[in-house]
Amino acid sequence: MTSNRAAWITAPKAHPFQIRESALLEVLSGDDILVKVHAWAINPIDQVVQAQGSSMSYPWLKYPAILGYDVAGEVIKVGSKVTRFAAGDRVFGLSYGCEKSEVTKHGGKAFPRSGFQEYVLLSDHMTARIPSDEISYEQACVLPLGLSTAAAGLFQEDQLHLQLPSLNSAPINETLLIWGGSSSVGLNAIQLAVNAGYEVITTCSPRNFELVRRLGASTVFDYNSKTVVQDIIKAFHNKTCAGAFTTGTGGAEKAFDILARVSSPSSSSSSSSFATSGTTTTRKKKHIAMATYPVPDPAPTNLVVPRTVVHFVSFLVGAWWKKVTTGVEYKFIWGGTVVDNGIGKQLFVDFLEQALEQRKYVCSPEPMVVGGKGVESLQDGIDVLAKGVSAKKVVVTI
Ligand SMILES: NC(=O)c1ccc[n+]([C@@H]2O[C@H](COP(=O)([O-])OP(=O)(O)OC[C@H]3O[C@@H](n4cnc5c(N)ncnc54)[C@H](OP(=O)(O)O)[C@@H]3O)[C@@H](O)[C@H]2O)c1
Repeated sequence: MTSNRAAWITAPKAHPFQIRESALLEVLSGDDILVKVHAWAINPIDQVVQAQGSSMSYPWLKYPAILGYDVAGEVIKVGSKVTRFAAGDRVFGLSYGCEKSEVTKHGGKAFPRSGFQEYVLLSDHMTARIPSDEISYEQACVLPLGLSTAAAGLFQEDQLHLQLPSLNSAPINETLLIWGGSSSVGLNAIQLAVNAGYEVITTCSPRNFELVRRLGASTVFDYNSKTVVQDIIKAFHNKTCAGAFTTGTGGAEKAFDILARVSSPSSSSSSSSFATSGTTTTRKKKHIAMATYPVPDPAPTNLVVPRTVVHFVSFLVGAWWKKVTTGVEYKFIWGGTVVDNGIGKQLFVDFLEQALEQRKYVCSPEPMVVGGKGVESLQDGIDVLAKGVSAKKVVVTI
């Protein structure tokens, strides 16, 4: 290990990535883990930032930059405070080098925690061991950002604030709506909610009904059906709705209409408050955690900022009116928030390894390997994702 190479994005909208050297940190600080990446997964944000520029998603980004959130690989060495891992371990983790705090820390000039390079720094608390040789690097790398985003929406105090998952959770008499259950984020949201004890009603295309049921959803509807809103309201009859988690264009708008007409915990039971670390926090009565932001679909390729802003503002006006008239609130999710608020640690350190080992959690969606030439194949991965996927994660291997 003497050098490192990355897929650099050299300027806003530059395509293809350029393969060049990147810094290789020889001295690790306390909870750092240096990992040789064996598989990368591609996320919509990687593709969108390359296609549209970073002004909407990462206004703090400076170029040249390295993107990428999802990696799995082999531990090369660990910092002095790391006791959970040693050289040679197989791990996966969230590489959050494009988060604002990281970019600022390095003055926008170095990206040691960004995924799209051969050697990546992971943080102990956002890394988990791959518990069995039966789980490949390709399978494990699909999890980090989908899982983190799902967790931010489900468990944060400012979002749905549900009970955290555990290996032996008792059933909770509440039902959650997950819109877009077959997406990468949605499949993680289903599994996390079910492992926390909630019943899940979800939506996806009929070709993925079996998959979402297998992962634990009790009821599933086609989001393209003309009667989907009424059908879901009926399915919530006699149930207490824990709120909604939405991915996919149009999901939040439908969730407003559904939540307006179903029972929330506070109106039907006393379970709206529960103790967290010794304090009691009240959950919002009717809340939508939104993973997909209201952006034009299909995405514009010119006048990106004004067209996106107009679309966004019209959503905000509609959502404000729905809140005033129905009491349903919403908040956008940012998956990277779980890095610093303790939730990422509770999942990556306390839950994932055992849950995967006991098959209470599975790596989902399935990887769709599109290239095996390491960082040279990452551009192919982005280009394949741009065409869209269904219940698959685009993955690149070495
Ligand atoms: N806020 C954040 O921090 C954050 C982080 C990660 C992702 N996201 C966003 O979350 C969304 C999902 O990301 P992902 O990585 O999970 O994407 P993905 O797996 O690539 O999404 C593909 C899936 O989306 C489903 N889908 C497409 N249009 C839909 C619609 N209108 N309603 C419901 N489902 C729909 C498809 O389902 P079928 O094939 O079954 O039709 C397909 O399985 C994206 O909008 C992404 O930008 C946000």
